[in-house]
Amino acid sequence: MSISVEVPTPTSHSDLAAWVTRIAELTQPDRIEWCDGSEAEWTRLTNLLVEQGTFTRLAKRPNSFYAASDPSDVARVEDRTFICSEREEDAGPTNNWIAPDEMRRTFATLFKGCMRGRTMYVVPFCMGPLGGNISQLGVEITDSPYVVVSMRIMTRMGEDALRLIEERGAARKARESEARANEGRGKHDHEHGDFVKAVHSVGAPLAPGQADVPWPCSQTKYISHFPETREIWSYGSGYGGNALLGKKCYALRIASVMARDEGWLAEHMLILKLTPPQGEARYVAAAFPSACGKTNLAMLQPTIPGWKVETIGDDIAWMRFGPDGRLYAINPEAGFFGVAPGTGRSTNANAIETLWGNSIFTNVALTDDGDVWWEGLTDEPPAHLIDWKGRDWTPDSPEPAAHPNARFTTPAEQCPTIAPEWQDPAGVPISAILFGGRRATAVPLVTESFGWQHGVFLGANVASEKTAAAEGKVGELRRDPFAMLPFCGYNMGDYFAHWLEIGRMTDPEKLPRIYYVNWFRKDANGRFLWPGFGENSRVLKWIVDRLNGVADAVPTPIGNLPASLDTEGLDIAPEDMELLLSVDPEVWREEAALIPPHFETFGDHMPKELWDEYRALVQRLG
Ligand code: GTP
Ligand code: MN
Ligand code: MN
Repeated sequence: MSISVEVPTPTSHSDLAAWVTRIAELTQPDRIEWCDGSEAEWTRLTNLLVEQGTFTRLAKRPNSFYAASDPSDVARVEDRTFICSEREEDAGPTNNWIAPDEMRRTFATLFKGCMRGRTMYVVPFCMGPLGGNISQLGVEITDSPYVVVSMRIMTRMGEDALRLIEERGAARKARESEARANEGRGKHDHEHGDFVKAVHSVGAPLAPGQADVPWPCSQTKYISHFPETREIWSYGSGYGGNALLGKKCYALRIASVMARDEGWLAEHMLILKLTPPQGEARYVAAAFPSACGKTNLAMLQPTIPGWKVETIGDDIAWMRFGPDGRLYAINPEAGFFGVAPGTGRSTNANAIETLWGNSIFTNVALTDDGDVWWEGLTDEPPAHLIDWKGRDWTPDSPEPAAHPNARFTTPAEQCPTIAPEWQDPAGVPISAILFGGRRATAVPLVTESFGWQHGVFLGANVASEKTAAAEGKVGELRRDPFAMLPFCGYNMGDYFAHWLEIGRMTDPEKLPRIYYVNWFRKDANGRFLWPGFGENSRVLKWIVDRLNGVADAVPTPIGNLPASLDTEGLDIAPEDMELLLSVDPEVWREEAALIPPHFETFGDHMPKELWDEYRALVQRLG
């Protein structure tokens, strides 16, 4: 194949130059641009997006934009997400699998000429602080300027990342020639290349003279991952989770495979810093399924006097053992891609403060004076809006003004509670890991695991209820182990085994303690028993006090529960509090009965230790 335009390759990294040329020959763009991540580039591309009608500049927020997607392209497409491992078994029972050869054949046709009439952007990026040991490099090729400007917020993108890729390449070459000189002594470590290759197209080529639409996309969609070669290919969608390939595709699906192979963890977790009135700061990571409160907890404003919460990350954590044997976490991202609806001053004031400028708002509503609005931003909606589908909207309109999955894309450094060490390349030492989901029934406000293996058992059983059932009755559960079900790049049975293995890699005393929390328990009338949000600081306080050995716990069949919780100044009925901290053995026997069918899904890959934990639970329940 050849291409009629010149393919610029302004890099000393020969693999990168060759790959960019290959993709250009396949996709046939009209122009090719290497992105440097500069202010000037941002200005040029955002102006272009305004001109094309993708962006509306917001009069009320400096340097910020409103975008409305095609109504069919509003979320991650799990049924079009594929793990293309060599063996089907390695993708596991919870991932869609297509054989890599077959997938590559499909893509050879699908991507052929798919960037005609468009510009191909080459976007080098770094996940994690530039130059950090835990950080990783990638290059995304995309035909969407919306993706480029979003990547500039969400990752360290441009010139600096490209230099790091080139340095890695040069260092590898030096090692290889030395190894050759020593005739094979000292093996080289480059089998996966110096960066992850990610190709994205909206899948909407333009014929000569054909007008573009504000949000090009295709009805055919593939979000495909090749774990062995550490490649990502995404076709047909412009939505963040499908198109910003540094995020879910790389930082979770591909990174989880790297983490398995290299003895670390890539997790769907927020990271926060908690400082008590006296005493040392602690770092906590927490995994909750999507829309279960990670961004909220990461930016929490404590209601208990003297306690301080600061933010390190709100969605993804990479954790590695440090030289002292403790687990250190970094936030691989540079921005927040958060759910807008429900975010307001009363629920997450720090998120609202973060959004003052330099932000992109997708599928929210537009106000008459050039600002954005969504359900939950203010108590009273404005009298008139343009909704996310571009229609006039008033409070009498039957549909919400913003799409329920409308998102903001905003720089993390603008968060008023961002911790000073959030960019520390060495990461922060994690003292506690929290799991949780939406459970109207059964699950107490907080439970402490008996140890690492029991904690892994709790993580493997993370679930949310599909329907809000009444207290005393276990509802239909959607299991989402470790909140990683949509994001694990390999067999989840093996993933559980990897977590158990991590627990054997250091002194047990140095491992984070594991907790299970539930902000979502309801009474018989369907009312939340726990006020949540800032009041969750009371639970964090108990956890820190436990770590410091100054809080009591009551052992129960499912784990240790607080002997008491600080409820000073909290308006909650004693019987509600009692229910929140209770374990009903009858309900829990039903709950336990739901575990074997879940575990059996993973067949031989299910670690025996977790079956042991299940049997121990049943025994304790009597
Ligand atoms: P992703 O970004 O998609 O991974 O999800 P997330 O885990 O960051 O979810 P997010 O913080 O955006 O979840 C928001 C939803 O959870 C909103 O509907 C909030 O109102 C609700 N929520 C968050 N914290 C609490 C809480 O403590 N109590 C209650 N009742 N609801 C909460
Ligand atoms: Mn998420
Ligand atoms: Mn979030």
